[in-house]
Amino acid sequence: MTDKATNIYPIFDKMLTRNDKEQLLSQRGLMVWFTGLSGSGKSTIAIALERELQQRGILCRILDGDNIRSGINRNLGFSAADRMENIRRIAEVGKLFVDTGIVTIAAFISPDNAMRAMAADIIGNDDFLEVWVSTPLQECERRDVKGLYAKARRGEIPNFTGISAPFEAPENPAIALDTSVLSLEESVKRLLALILPKIKK
Ligand code: ADX
Repeated sequence: MTDKATNIYPIFDKMLTRNDKEQLLSQRGLMVWFTGLSGSGKSTIAIALERELQQRGILCRILDGDNIRSGINRNLGFSAADRMENIRRIAEVGKLFVDTGIVTIAAFISPDNAMRAMAADIIGNDDFLEVWVSTPLQECERRDVKGLYAKARRGEIPNFTGISAPFEAPENPAIALDTSVLSLEESVKRLLALILPKIKK
């Protein structure tokens, strides 16, 4: 036969599925989405969580401002529209990891409900766990790890979240962690209790 279809072998052409990847890894993919003010402790908790999960044989991938805003999102700033696009791209990239069976940990301010809902929509609600790092502004500003709050107060950074741009409290987070009250160990312990049952295969 000269029919083109002769040379097509659909079975061999099929990409392996998420389930195939999850079997390989013996875990389920999940997006752990941290939201909270700058300096609230998102990255610190994300890093500690990743280490604890790795020790338990769970493959993770952290997405945070340093690896995203200096790479694929280097053309974006902090206007409302740019933040929305920032989060949209992160959600699309995150979905690729989740669909590979990887526990993906995103640590971005993601300051409003609409953008968090968009991220959940892209990734799929069942795979999206919203973690609100609810450390109060006063405490984030007191820490001012990067010196950005002081600059924002002096008017040197426009649209700074919490100072001159809004942060909307999540309406229905899976968990809220206030690092002015909870130790890092306690926050990670609570997260593990929430996450481990969801990623067991
Ligand atoms: S988001 O709002 O688009 O989700 P993202 O988490 O990527 O923000 O980046 C936040 C980080 O960028 C902050 O922790 C801070 O270091 C830095 N930054 C620079 N300018 C601003 C700003 N105007 N508002 C908030 N964070 C800023």
